[in-house]
Amino acid sequence: MQYCYHHIQPSAHFLVHDSAERCHALLEAAGAWQAELHEEILVFDEGHWQKSHDLWVEVHKAKWADVILKEEFKELMMSDVEGFFDSEDLYKSLAVPWKRGIIIHGPPGNGKTITLKAVMKTCSDRGFAPLYVKSFRHRRSDEGAMVEVFKKAREMAPCIMVLEDLDSLITDTNRSFFLNQLDGLEGNDGLLLFASTNHLEKLDVALSGRPSRFDRKFAFDDPDERERTLYMKYWQKKLENNPNVLYSDGLIDELVSKTAGFSFAYLKEVFISSLVLLANPKHIATLSFSEVAKGQIRDLRVQMEKAKEQTAKSPPPQENAGAVVNPRFVRRTMQAQPI
Ligand SMILES: Nc1ncnc2c1ncn2[C@@H]1O[C@H](COP(=O)(O)OP(=O)(O)OP(=O)(O)O)[C@@H](O)[C@H]1O
Ligand SMILES: [Mg+2]
Repeated sequence: MQYCYHHIQPSAHFLVHDSAERCHALLEAAGAWQAELHEEILVFDEGHWQKSHDLWVEVHKAKWADVILKEEFKELMMSDVEGFFDSEDLYKSLAVPWKRGIIIHGPPGNGKTITLKAVMKTCSDRGFAPLYVKSFRHRRSDEGAMVEVFKKAREMAPCIMVLEDLDSLITDTNRSFFLNQLDGLEGNDGLLLFASTNHLEKLDVALSGRPSRFDRKFAFDDPDERERTLYMKYWQKKLENNPNVLYSDGLIDELVSKTAGFSFAYLKEVFISSLVLLANPKHIATLSFSEVAKGQIRDLRVQMEKAKEQTAKSPPPQENAGAVVNPRFVRRTMQAQPI
């Protein structure tokens, strides 16, 4: 018996036993086991579906409580997800296809990826397997990849399929094929598509501007004052037992007012870099958390302004080109409101 492993390396396995019946039973059981997911998430990459235990672990660590967004924003998004899986009968009674598409968009470092993980966790907990598409690369063509991707989604439905960085997955050459798969003559009943992008404006309006393909868009902008306060409080709770950190409510107000324009990733960096500095024995006795954090905010603001200047000067980056500046730290201004 010969299996093709990942379409590349053929490998041979032999089963030796005096009972052919038992051999067949074992093979059947192994085949059935192989077809199931065991603490794994299906990931499409390099032209085929693979099972990823690492992604499963990542997703199962995700908690909505760690995603700091305004409650009403979070609830609207969660109800879109939960509501989809609860509303098969409603869609059927309206004689419309039971499928939905959601795009989350915004500048780097404001929680799109952690939100996707929390959404995948929610779906997985409810028994709907999440599918994750990393690329549409395929040894034959992107079209070949899309056929495989949508075939699996139809097989697994009801399910959620995540397309991260949609603007880099969809190109001028594969777009119309993707739209065909999306609108699907074969139907995509039970498919909830969840896509993310930093560049909503780069997406063709055929994708971003037409309900029934992507019906809903959520903007993840840099946190406003209310979200920064929620984030500072989240860290206050995290650090409540740290003997090196005195973190009063008054300090929260100060940090909030000093960090206007910071992304969540920048805010996180304020805490991480401050704690690393404080962990140095030579600083513990001499510096307070408050002083260190404010110093870090000043430094990070300089870094952020420089990054913005550089971005303004440089031509738009090529896809996958090595970034001089971490794109996570580049800011844009849009309201974090679902539209
Ligand atoms: N809303 C948020 N709540 C809590 N933490 C956040 C939030 N947004 C970002 N962070 C922190 O910043 C890190 C980066 O966030 P994330 O990777 O989700 O950003 P992103 O929007 O996907 O960025 P990119 O567009 O670069 O992919 C997270 O690991 C998390 O620690
Ligand atoms: Mg991301």
